[in-house]
Amino acid sequence: MSESYVVLKDVWKIYRTGAVEWPALRGVNLSIDRKTFTAVIGPSGSGKSTLLNIVGGLDRPTSGSVVVGGMDISKLNGRKLANYRNTHIGFVFQSYNLLNYLTVFENVELPLVIKGVDSRVRRDAVLSMLDMFGLREMAYKRPVELSGGEQQRVAIARALINSPSLILADEPTGNLDSKNAQIVVEAFRKLVSEHGKTILMVTHNIELTKYADVIVKMRDGNIVEVSS
Ligand SMILES: Nc1ncnc2c1ncn2[C@@H]1O[C@H](COP(=O)(O)OP(=O)(O)OP(=O)(O)O)[C@@H](O)[C@H]1O
Ligand SMILES: [Mg+2]
Repeated sequence: MSESYVVLKDVWKIYRTGAVEWPALRGVNLSIDRKTFTAVIGPSGSGKSTLLNIVGGLDRPTSGSVVVGGMDISKLNGRKLANYRNTHIGFVFQSYNLLNYLTVFENVELPLVIKGVDSRVRRDAVLSMLDMFGLREMAYKRPVELSGGEQQRVAIARALINSPSLILADEPTGNLDSKNAQIVVEAFRKLVSEHGKTILMVTHNIELTKYADVIVKMRDGNIVEVSS
């Protein structure tokens, strides 16, 4: 039986720029079960990234509650929120955000270095992650020497190295051709079905929503449809 893992209740996010207030989220309610793959779609400016950032603790809601794994993260202070991100969340972005002065191996290893994990343990973990994404041969290359699809696989490997239970991906295939986009989304599907991860992915590519269990459609800061 599945249980709700992420629960948002009446979440508002109002951005203030000088005297101008812009409600990016307008009373969002959403429940996401564990071990599901959810695709978030909707026009530009509808609040998709804002929603993801709030679930991931990169940003705080103006009002409303965000409960993840039974914990209300909207009430956490900066340090606790950072700890929540580091232990529970894997982020994947459109622009990969890899460090070009590090090798592929070192990029994937970095979260474990920050965590203070022993180097032998790090090495085993990184190599098995590289194997999983077919990147073993590229371990000592720099990200600039890889294709976009390979770079995004490195970014996903890095997002997974800390074993997060929740993966948040904001247009992860936005810079990829259709073949590489499919590889990434098939990897996500497998992470949910075979490894019990929960994934929330923003996409503009309707084709890719067929891999998802649930499709959440946003418009003007609200969820207008949830289909499964
Ligand atoms: N830091 C900010 N300050 C002010 N307004 C913001 C900020 N971030 C987002 N907004 C506004 O909030 C609204 C929602 O933005 P958001 O980035 O969530 O949209 P989106 O659905 O992800 O769009 P896209 O598909 O273009 O990425 C937009 O109108 C945007 O201009
Ligand atoms: Mg966005």
